[in-house]
Amino acid sequence: MELKAVEWLGDKLKLLDQRKLPHEESFVILADYQDVALAIKEMKVRGAPAIGIAAAYGIALGAQNIETTDKDRFLSLLDQIIQALATTRPTAVNLFQAISKMKTAATGDSVPEIRERLINEAKRIHQEEIEATKRLSHLGAQLIRDGFTILTHCNAGALATAGYGTALGIIKAARQQGKRISVFITETRPLLQGARLTAWELMRAHIPVTLITDSMAGYFMKQEKIDCVVVGADRIAANGDVANKIGTYTLAVLAKENGIPFYVAAPTSTIDLSLASGDKIPIEEREATELTHIQGVPIAPAGIAAANPAFDVTPHDYVSAIITEKGIMRRSHLGAPGLSDS
Ligand code: MRU
Repeated sequence: MELKAVEWLGDKLKLLDQRKLPHEESFVILADYQDVALAIKEMKVRGAPAIGIAAAYGIALGAQNIETTDKDRFLSLLDQIIQALATTRPTAVNLFQAISKMKTAATGDSVPEIRERLINEAKRIHQEEIEATKRLSHLGAQLIRDGFTILTHCNAGALATAGYGTALGIIKAARQQGKRISVFITETRPLLQGARLTAWELMRAHIPVTLITDSMAGYFMKQEKIDCVVVGADRIAANGDVANKIGTYTLAVLAKENGIPFYVAAPTSTIDLSLASGDKIPIEEREATELTHIQGVPIAPAGIAAANPAFDVTPHDYVSAIITEKGIMRRSHLGAPGLSDS
């Protein structure tokens, strides 16, 4: 059955609650932009493309609920809604790309006309991401050979994209091409997107999967059990530096050390050409309780200091190729002032 992590119901937004997976497949139905902003912050919806899509629908929802027919007043209230969504999570650039597209769409002679344009734009952004992830998945599947074991980190699947998936999309497409593949997934501390979400998605797709802790990756690489690493991205700078889930950089260094290709899969909505390198990518710092507790249960002494950066930046030197819907950029193309298709 097709997985719908984000669904527009015409006047409400339906989200599969990713905090509850894999034990509970439950949905939340959101009727206002504040609820959408909270769902993004609390990671009921997560993953770079899905965050952008949810925010676009959040703006459309907010616009529906503004009670004025005065256009200037409407646009000023719309701006407050946009601000609220823009301050949910800082790293994934898809959020800001989607917001910028929604701002551009907010034109028209009357309030009802602007409202309708915003809904159409949110739907268009969603459709565009579905198509981009399908296309990049089929392009990327060329890099996967029959018999490969692929290591992935975090969750870059249908859940994270509200579409086909990026890293997991490539894995699914390779499988559809008849390639016999298997996947190693890291649990992805602290929020366990690998153990909870990627495990769930791959098992649902009947793809052989082995769960390991984040710290086991080097062991299996050295044992020659991994043929390539494929991960998603939250923001890619103009020189090809990649921000992705914390721990990605470690995997990239280990992959290089062990002579294993390290692929990054992302739609072009994840590329931020305004940043020359990854140094300026804002890294979200989340609450220490995500480390000190596992699903509400304390695992460390009370009062311990803990650091919790949610993402890291992998320098482009460690990236073998970036796979987008527009083409595959090999390492030789990365590091130049702007990314270009190969
Ligand atoms: O904190 P999260 O779960 O939103 O982080 C998600 C990731 O890091 C994904 O790898 C990334 O967004 C790519 S999703 C196609």
